Amino acid sequence: MKLKQLMTGAAMTALISGSAFASDVEVLHWWTSGGEAAALNVLKDDLGGQGIGWVDMPVAGGGGEAAMTTLRARVTAGDAPTAVQMLGFDIIDWASEGVLGNLNDVATAEGWDAVVPGALQAFSKHEGNWIASPVNVHSTNWVWINKAALDATGMAAPGSWDELVAVLDAMKANGITPLAHGGQAWQDATIFDAVVLGMGDAFYKSTMIDLDPAALGGADMVEAFNRMAKLRSYVDDNFSGRDWNLASAMVINGEAGMQMMGDWAKGEFLRADQKPGTDFECIRFPGTQGAVTFNSDQFVMFEVSEGRDAQLAMAKAVMDPAFQSAFNVVKGSVPARTDVPNTDFDDCGRKGMADLADAGNNDRLFGSMAHGHSVPASVKNAIYDVVTAHFNGEYDAETAAAELVNAVESAM
Ligand code: BGC
Repeated sequence: MKLKQLMTGAAMTALISGSAFASDVEVLHWWTSGGEAAALNVLKDDLGGQGIGWVDMPVAGGGGEAAMTTLRARVTAGDAPTAVQMLGFDIIDWASEGVLGNLNDVATAEGWDAVVPGALQAFSKHEGNWIASPVNVHSTNWVWINKAALDATGMAAPGSWDELVAVLDAMKANGITPLAHGGQAWQDATIFDAVVLGMGDAFYKSTMIDLDPAALGGADMVEAFNRMAKLRSYVDDNFSGRDWNLASAMVINGEAGMQMMGDWAKGEFLRADQKPGTDFECIRFPGTQGAVTFNSDQFVMFEVSEGRDAQLAMAKAVMDPAFQSAFNVVKGSVPARTDVPNTDFDDCGRKGMADLADAGNNDRLFGSMAHGHSVPASVKNAIYDVVTAHFNGEYDAETAAAELVNAVESAM
């Protein structure tokens, strides 16, 4: 085989330009939708420009469950990828297994301690050592609304649960699907994050973080499940199994009125050339204004015998302030560093940055249960099961609340 066929594009560029070239990084990730792929290209191009070769290992599936299953199989086979997109408690779980590379040298040289918020450091560090490089902060308590569909209701964007229901009813009366949704456990759970938070910060904390059995099985949880059932009534008949980006497309093309989804959805609107304020509205899930359920995509580097230079170069590159701006503008997320200017962000991005800072300052910033930042995967999956069974009509609200207590208890 010719040398050219054996090399990646970035490696060829490095060879031709004569730059120092350590080796490739193989990156396992789940960024496969149109908006996600566009953001990924920003990262690939950035690394390529620095002579870091990219070997792509995409595992489709929003929320990353399938990616984590593939990862486990690869590690078990003794073939860990060099770099992996990872969320919250999964990072800590892998760090506890002692298989992640230590990033302290680059973190110290680049001053990460001073610019990464504590809420993120809780997942980027293990036993005082940096083991992950955070590329963004997403949050799950957002609603994406088709502007023309909202205008057609004659109502303003909803600010409370009752207003939300009124807008959804009006959209239904106007003959569109009020709520675009994909029936997959992680998507049901993403809405559940917002519904629970909408019933109060204290309720979110006691149930999704502290796992207090009295709160998990109490009257407010019954009400949360009743709200989930109400939302279920606005979904179309074909929702089962639909990918999240196809639900976004329904809002983009006006077939549906709104989607309740994390801000990666904005990446899809931008890719379709839609503009916030003109074509779509981004609002916090009604009743959660001022509070944020966050998740942060971080890259962990598995310990490898070769290629550590490229790993460290990648860890450093994703934390570069200019890169964090360019990447997050496309991804829909906001920077993981507090010192990145909001100049290049659209109104939704600026709101996301301001909300994150305010929620942090006001003690209203919480890890997302649905996206692995409030409880370990075993408990998260137990909550998923109950939320999904209820969403699909297997349990009524009272049974769901009781089952939630049992499921969480057995998973702990
Ligand atoms: C990740 C996002 C991703 C989304 C949908 C979330 O868990 O944090 O980066 O876009 O899943 O795939």
